[in-house]
Formats: sequence, C-alpha cells, structure tokens
Amino acid sequence: MKMKTLLLRPTEIAKAALLIRQGECVAFPTETVYGLGGNALDERAVAKVFQAKGRPPDNPLIVHCHSRAQLSELARGWPPAATGLMNAFWPGPLTIVLEKQDVVPASVSGGLGTVALRLPSHPLAIALLRATGLPVVAPSANVSGKPSPTTAEHVVADLSGKIAAILDGGATPGGLESTVLDCTVLPFRVLRPGAITLEQLQALAPVTEFCAADEGPLAPGMRYRHYSPGAQLVLVSGDGAQAEIQRQLNSRDQAEGEAAVMAFRESSYSGARIFDFGSKTRLETAAAELYNLLRQVDSLGYKLVFVEGPPEQGLGRSIMNRLRQAATKEIHT
Ligand code: TXA
Ligand code: MG
Repeated sequence: MKMKTLLLRPTEIAKAALLIRQGECVAFPTETVYGLGGNALDERAVAKVFQAKGRPPDNPLIVHCHSRAQLSELARGWPPAATGLMNAFWPGPLTIVLEKQDVVPASVSGGLGTVALRLPSHPLAIALLRATGLPVVAPSANVSGKPSPTTAEHVVADLSGKIAAILDGGATPGGLESTVLDCTVLPFRVLRPGAITLEQLQALAPVTEFCAADEGPLAPGMRYRHYSPGAQLVLVSGDGAQAEIQRQLNSRDQAEGEAAVMAFRESSYSGARIFDFGSKTRLETAAAELYNLLRQVDSLGYKLVFVEGPPEQGLGRSIMNRLRQAATKEIHT
C-alpha cells in the first residue's frame, strides 16, 4: 500500500514527533546515517519499520534514547565498565547491548533476551527523541541490502511511499554506523565495528574483537549480505593496490565499458572514472563518503568498481568490514 511521504524541515520536529507517537515511521538524521524511527514500545509501529525496510524479523533493532534516565526501564542494569564507556562516548555512535526488560517487545530484539541501546549526538535526533518522549527503534533508513542512507535523498530513493515522513537534516556527518558492543559478557565484545574504534574502546575497558570462532550471539545483522551495490565490486588492499588496479584496468577490453575506482588522493589512475575517497591519512572522509559513492556508482550504471582498501586499524577496520560485505572479490597485495 502506497502512502504519501512528507518531507519535513528541521523546524517541523513537532510534526515528526507526533507521527511517531501516532505509531508511524519517520526517517531522521543521526551523526552516523539516517535512521527509520518508530515507537519502540508499540509492536505495531515496530512491525511497520520491519515491513518498510523489508528486513528479516530475526535481525534486531537498536533502541535510541535521549537521556540515560530512560535506560533502566529498558535494560536490567549493566557492569561499571559499561558506565565508563557511556560516560566517554555518549551521546555518540556507540551502541551497547544489555539484558532487556520485559517492556521491550520481543520483535525489537529479534527474539533475543537482549536490547541494543544508543544515545545519538545529532542535534535533530536528540530534539526529535526528546519531543516524542519515547524510546525509538531506528535501523538505518535503507531498504534491506542497500547501502545505508547518508542524505534525505537516499531515504527518498529507498522508502518514498512506504513511510509517513522524512526529517531532512542534510548529509549526516559520520557516514558509518555506530559500533555495536555486547556488554553482557566480559571482556565486552565488538559485534559490529563502526564509528567508535576498537582502540578507543580498549583504552577504557576490556574489549575484544568479535571472532567468528566464538560461541554465542553476534549481531544477527552481520549474517546478511549488506551494502551491496549493483556493480561488481573488487576490493584491493595492501601496498601494491594502486599497481594492481592499474594493471587490471590496462588489461580490460574497451567494449567492456568504463570502470570506476574509489581511490585515495595519494593514488592516480588512467582509463577509469575516479571517485574521491579523500586522503589515506584522514579516513573520516572515506567513512563519510563510502555509502554515497556506492550509491553514485550504482546510479551511474557502472558494471565494475575497484575500491582501494585502507589499512585495517582504527576507522580503517570498520571501513574494511563494510567493504568486505559489499565486495564480490577481494585481492590483498
Ligand atoms: O549508527 C547506527 O547504528 C544506525 C543509526 C540510525 O543509529 N542504526 C543502524 O541500525 O545501523 P541497523 O538496524 O541498520 O543495525 C543494527 C545492528 C544490526 O547488525 C543488528 O543485528 C545489531 O545492530 N543488533 C541490534 N540489536 C541487537 C542485539 N540485541 N544483540 C546483538 N546485535 C544487535
Ligand atoms: Mg542497517
């Protein structure tokens, strides 16, 4: 069933909040990507969020709050080391998984006994959450399997006609989703690398990377192929990346059409369209641009895109995680 999707300006927060209170879905900007908001305590609203995205029901949603006071209603307490991380990184792009209270519907947590919580720092997100007075589920506001949206236009492209409204706050500054951290085990475990790096977390608390060989729950979302562009994506990492990509470009037949390269400023190529990933020494730019570039490559109809992978440390680890999920092939040089 198609509905009219309102495009709301930042001054129309009250309208966006009312729609959420009435059980509708409203997309809004956060400091990472746009989220698709719905009342976390209303199962019907939660069902609408899953439906609009075409999201598998066993993939749980993050509950967004505007204040710490809301947390004790949603979670059954947390260890002191988690408080340290909340103090350091909230409001901001860290999502903390805790044992849930019964008030959180089972559909929110995909049937798990836990709930993922986050206090975003984007001023519009905070204002909207405050105006609703509710905990709000907000998965990335894309159709499942598409790159996360970093502009209102991306949300329009994916969800227009399927949701009540989009609060347009311009491009989101971060571009990469929050880090999801399981705080129900010690040491804490990163379930999804993201905007807050492993190094930042480890400076303050015992934290390990998720290891596929581990037992127990991981972020169920990581099981699904994500962020896939329509083009074949070849991820090339290591010191010889530029030489390898140029070699492959040279060996292509003209008839195969132009290829695209998502490249750092430090590299140069001939015979391909270049999409700028910013400098290797400042990966915030690559993080901010990643999904936007994947969507551009798609909409321009490229059949093949090479992507230079950053070194796997700090934000580079999170960027590589997303690129691997989008890649059809990975070459390490
Ligand atoms: O930055 C973000 O986190 C954005 C913005 C909108 O806040 N939201 C976002 O939500 O990326 P989503 O639904 O696209 O990704 C949430 C991830 C999924 O991988 C999901 O499986 C995991 O968090 N997750 C949610 N609840 C969980 C839980 N109780 N236990 C383990 N993983 C959970
Ligand atoms: Mg998502």
